[in-house]
Amino acid sequence: TYVVAEPCIRCRTTDCVTVCPVDCFYAGENMLVINPEECIDCGACEPECPVTAIFEESELPKKWSAYIQLNVEYASKWPGITEQTDPPSDWEEWKDVEEKKKHFNP
Ligand code: SF4
Ligand code: F3S
Repeated sequence: TYVVAEPCIRCRTTDCVTVCPVDCFYAGENMLVINPEECIDCGACEPECPVTAIFEESELPKKWSAYIQLNVEYASKWPGITEQTDPPSDWEEWKDVEEKKKHFNP
């Protein structure tokens, strides 16, 4: 399955949602997640993300392994999203910021 990891936090450009053939993205305040039970591993979303937040699970950097469970957890709590929305006005400033977990806002 594919996983949305930390780079999405405060960037959330939503480019990924329009290409997903099974609509398995779910939206929080400042991050999206993928429902691993619905993802069909097509890989279409991965190159769409301008901040490289989406990884096939086996390629997920170890430092972000907790995001596997975070995707599972919030996919069942957040509403689905299929239409692109405006990103935060300052998303580009957050693009390369490390350790954004403290900014995660469910
Ligand atoms: Fe959707 Fe394909 Fe991305 Fe899975 S890999 S979230 S099915 S676009
Ligand atoms: Fe997040 Fe990238 Fe999608 S920033 S909303 S995973 S396009």
